[in-house]
Amino acid sequence: MAAAFVWGAATSAHQVEGNNIHNDWWEWEVRGKVAYRSGSACDHYRRFDEDFALAAALGHTAHRLSLEWSRIELAPGQYQSAALEHYRDVLRALKQRNLKTFVTLHHFTNPRWFARQGGWEHPRAALQFGQYVRVVAQALGDLVDVWITINEPNIYALKGYWEGVWPPGQRHHWRAVERVTRHFAAAHQEAYRIIHQSHPAAKVGIAQSVVAFLPARADSRLDQLVVQAHNWYYNHRFFQLTRGCHDFIGLNYYYAAGRKFSGRWPFFTPAPLPYPQTKPLAWSIYPSGLTRLLQDFKRYQLPIYITENGLPDADDHLRGEFIRQHIRAIEAAQQQGADVRGYFHWSLLDNFEWAEGFTPRFGLVAVDFATQERAIRPSARVYQAIINQAQN
Ligand code: BGC
Repeated sequence: MAAAFVWGAATSAHQVEGNNIHNDWWEWEVRGKVAYRSGSACDHYRRFDEDFALAAALGHTAHRLSLEWSRIELAPGQYQSAALEHYRDVLRALKQRNLKTFVTLHHFTNPRWFARQGGWEHPRAALQFGQYVRVVAQALGDLVDVWITINEPNIYALKGYWEGVWPPGQRHHWRAVERVTRHFAAAHQEAYRIIHQSHPAAKVGIAQSVVAFLPARADSRLDQLVVQAHNWYYNHRFFQLTRGCHDFIGLNYYYAAGRKFSGRWPFFTPAPLPYPQTKPLAWSIYPSGLTRLLQDFKRYQLPIYITENGLPDADDHLRGEFIRQHIRAIEAAQQQGADVRGYFHWSLLDNFEWAEGFTPRFGLVAVDFATQERAIRPSARVYQAIINQAQN
């Protein structure tokens, strides 16, 4: 690994801060659409300093976090200087510990006023997002090293408009999936332009969810076609809609998924894979999928960051080895020419895992949600040793 390679962990505002009462996810929880309430989550809004002290003590050199739009813009055009000042404190706390700042502008949650007027389906969504971005870039830009405009636009559209399990809860609404995707693309382009206006040297990109799709039958031409279609639609399409507006590629990689051709619409079925699985979310652990994806993403000729990678593993039996193997997978891709510049583990802390609540435990650091006590998991030490070794 080159000396400049950054090592860190990622979080998002609603999952860790607590009491984000002005966004659409809070409303979704209050309406009982999911079985869990985020409540005070990790109380990170107040405890960020001690959490960053842990990250620094664990050898991290960077941290990825998201800003909560609903705290910053309480009503259209009503920007909250106290919230912006809070995020200045947060970013300063990272800088004081020599951690590089990777800042996400949208990580799944929206201000309630924005959701009520139609959310990401609304024709003005991208423009309104741009106005928020302009304010943030001016207020915080001097403290941001790398900007991530939107987290996983593909997951957002599928969960909210196809599976219907996240707000706004629409099911099988293909036209809405398309509209939302296009509005996110316009929003990213707008944000890219706006950030560069005030900060010409800024590094701006997105964090895209990528999956290693694998054919159920390696020798089946039809299964391979299904895999190619998934790879194009799920992994690449957003980059193609926003070509020319990325200073780097941000990839969130968790697992592989099998695909098998079927004779009936939609012409595929999910297929089981022979790899170990995580619990309680049944994800196939497949580190070499990351090497393959990195090879594939070389086509954009841009630096790449792994902006998320992790697993639910409450008893921490798998995490240390999972990290080791995924770092090896990155090194293998680098040896074949992939320009990977950093790795962020998901997550620094156990946190609110959306519709699954607090059950899946993703943290390098365990959180006792009754007492807010933090406990460093052994795998965090494995990660620390990898970081130390790479730097010596
Ligand atoms: C998201 C995170 C989430 C993680 C684990 C990613 O898709 O960006 O918000 O917690 O996966 O499911």
